[in-house]
Amino acid sequence: MRKPAPAKLDTPLLDVELMSLFPEIFDSFLRTSLVGKAIENGIVRVACTNPRDFASGRHRQVDDASYGGGPGMVLRPEPLAAAIESVESARGRTHRIILSPAGRLFDQALAQDLACRGRLMLICGRYEGVDERISDLFADEVISIGDYVLAGGEVAATVIVEAVSRLVPGVLGCGDSAIDESFSEGRLEYPQWTRPPEFRGMTVPEVLLSGNHAQVATWRRLESLRRTQARRPDLLLRYPPSEDEQSLLSGVPRKRRKKTAQQR
Ligand code: ADE
Repeated sequence: MRKPAPAKLDTPLLDVELMSLFPEIFDSFLRTSLVGKAIENGIVRVACTNPRDFASGRHRQVDDASYGGGPGMVLRPEPLAAAIESVESARGRTHRIILSPAGRLFDQALAQDLACRGRLMLICGRYEGVDERISDLFADEVISIGDYVLAGGEVAATVIVEAVSRLVPGVLGCGDSAIDESFSEGRLEYPQWTRPPEFRGMTVPEVLLSGNHAQVATWRRLESLRRTQARRPDLLLRYPPSEDEQSLLSGVPRKRRKKTAQQR
């Protein structure tokens, strides 16, 4: 029997206002896969506004040279301010975010925080950035998705929309989990395999075929720790291993370790 389509929500749980000079960048992203489904089901709503529509003059100029000199153009404040104010007076206050490589680094904890905000505005810079007065007057925060420079904030905005949407209740199916995964506890996710059991001479670890859930869980915790140690030692410094994790890594079960200590 086919599963009935979920009822469409009247009020979205996540409402995103994108502010971009290139709204077409978002077209296929918003129609496809997880975000497309969440929008179709009414759980997430995304609207896009082009600040150029709020620029004055025959040429609707949105950028200008940087005071003090230097290469590249800076987004002028007037069209952006008018666009932000127009969106908010029509649909209400948002948590306003400017996307910039000069921002605070985006991570899973920040994604979780944003998922609870209800209404987000993602303001995409282009060229050399946005006039600082927009940041001073409007931004609740400035976010970077990584230590590299993109041509604009649009790709960064899609990263944030996807990372945040999947944390909104109802977006992931019951079988999928936003908890048992990389970064949820400062650890990278354990490796995974699917069928076939043998591929190009490579097999799946025996324990995963054993059906012993307790052993599988312990094995996965250890692999997740080892992977974090090898690929992201900075995470182990930030979130030091618990006693349980230390004994997992040392290969000595915790109970036996305790007994030995008492015996001394
Ligand atoms: N715009 C340009 N580069 C960016 C980055 N790394 N993060 C967010 N916005 C950006």
